[in-house]
Amino acid sequence: MTDATGSRDLLAVSGLGKSFTHRSGTSTPAVGDISFTMADGEFIAVVGPSGCGKTTLLRCLAGLLAPDRGTLHYAGKPVDGVPEGLSVVFQEYNRSLLPWLTVRQNVEFGLSALPKSERAARATAALERVRLADVMQHAPWQLSGGMQQRVAVARAIATRPRLLLMDEPFASVDAQTRIALEAMTASISAELGLATLLITHDIDEAIFLADRVLVLSARPSEIVADITVELPRPREEVEVKATAAYQRYRRQVHGLIVGDAVDAGTAVR
Ligand SMILES: Nc1ncnc2c1ncn2[C@@H]1O[C@H](COP(=O)(O)OP(=O)(O)OP(=O)(O)O)[C@@H](O)[C@H]1O
Ligand SMILES: [Mg+2]
Repeated sequence: MTDATGSRDLLAVSGLGKSFTHRSGTSTPAVGDISFTMADGEFIAVVGPSGCGKTTLLRCLAGLLAPDRGTLHYAGKPVDGVPEGLSVVFQEYNRSLLPWLTVRQNVEFGLSALPKSERAARATAALERVRLADVMQHAPWQLSGGMQQRVAVARAIATRPRLLLMDEPFASVDAQTRIALEAMTASISAELGLATLLITHDIDEAIFLADRVLVLSARPSEIVADITVELPRPREEVEVKATAAYQRYRRQVHGLIVGDAVDAGTAVR
């Protein structure tokens, strides 16, 4: 499918860089030089050592932060603000949900442009999709961490996005919940035909979920590898992780990321 400009890419990032200047006058280069393209419906995982600029990259892609260098196009148009059709799930769910609203109201919050009945229908469908229909009237803080993150996912998909950006969405939940949330993410992205860009520092999560894994270097980050994950779908966690192909991808990504983290003196899981 091509858009008005004839481009096939949903997202086109070229030479993107971002530094932060501090009051003291010193500067922290976060994103060094990032270029990649993403097709409609594609699932990309971005992995990289702690502090390498992943969140900064995501905020630039989402139009929330202006890069210093490079170009960024979404559906063929330059990004200068949050583009329509793009949704974000942030790293810290406990700060992204509004505590004075119910779960349902949180999901409806991003749908204010729609008529009331449509808002309600969309919120119900999204909450059913993440299996939270029974807690719609609860406050977010009455839910477990994993449930709160499912509310954040429901809120993101209720807008019917074309591109979903997720920043370490499952980093602060326990291992069992995390596996369930990963499986849920895989099926939602597939069913809705969503292009999904997931930031993570979990190598297993990246390989299990993604069509492509972009491996970032330590700060200022560059892409050190763009790996196509040719594991058949749908993927079942236990089965896929037992395959030799999966183990090869794992060793490859681990080698790239740990080697780099050791060089930079930062840790990675
Ligand atoms: N608003 C800001 N002002 C100043 N410096 C910042 C700001 N945001 C990020 N930085 C710095 O930029 C660098 C990259 O930060 P960023 O949060 O993008 O990394 P990350 O890869 O997401 O880290 P983590 O793995 O911990 O989530 C860090 O050195 C950080 O201190
Ligand atoms: Mg981050």
